[in-house]
Amino acid sequence: MIEPVNTAVIYYSSTGNVHALAQAAVEGAEKAGAAVRLRKVRELAPAAAIESNPGWAAHAAATSDITEASPDDLAWADVVIFGTPTRYGSPASQLKAFIDSTGPLWQQGKLADKVYTAFTSTVTAHGGLESTLLALGNVFYHWGGIIVPPGYTDPIQFQTGNPYGTAHFGGDGNGPGPLDLDAARYQARRAVETAAALARGRAA
Ligand SMILES: Cc1cc2nc3c(=O)[nH]c(=O)nc-3n(C[C@H](O)[C@H](O)[C@H](O)COP(=O)(O)O)c2cc1C
Repeated sequence: MIEPVNTAVIYYSSTGNVHALAQAAVEGAEKAGAAVRLRKVRELAPAAAIESNPGWAAHAAATSDITEASPDDLAWADVVIFGTPTRYGSPASQLKAFIDSTGPLWQQGKLADKVYTAFTSTVTAHGGLESTLLALGNVFYHWGGIIVPPGYTDPIQFQTGNPYGTAHFGGDGNGPGPLDLDAARYQARRAVETAAALARGRAA
């Protein structure tokens, strides 16, 4: 019997845009039959910085019950879906700090052969969405991961998708819309279905 695909959605979000995409990814993965863990990475910013931004403070309070990511979540997962805001064209340092804590797992080969995919959010349409996703791709290469991008493999990708990974830009301040959320659901489903196919093949 093939077990459900263990899927970890690991994200950082300060003002909620990436969190909304992460929740959509959870929905997409669960609908595809996966066992899912939603995990936020540890906040590194000082309390004064968070409190100085009402949107940041409100989001931190609203998501205080979400469990923090640990290396065990990576060891457990068959699929890892990372979400991060774009910060100067790169992943947020909070997510990078989590990634940089994985040396022991990497040394044991426990990060290899899993399915990896990632999504992001910016303010502007050309504000570095793809450079952020490509930077995460560099990590996946080092881990020996199986990178599963959405490409143009579904009609949603022609409406709002980004072939590198779901990429919301929020200049209007309204957060991810229905199409962005559908793209994140689709990306997660594709990752889970790919991992399920790999599991069937490995078991054969
Ligand atoms: C320090 C910092 C750097 C940022 N860099 C970029 C950037 O390079 N391009 C861009 O379009 N938006 C940039 N932004 C905006 C965030 O990417 C954007 O607000 C994102 O939607 C935040 O996601 P969140 O709501 O999940 O925290 C930056 C924001 C901060 C605080």
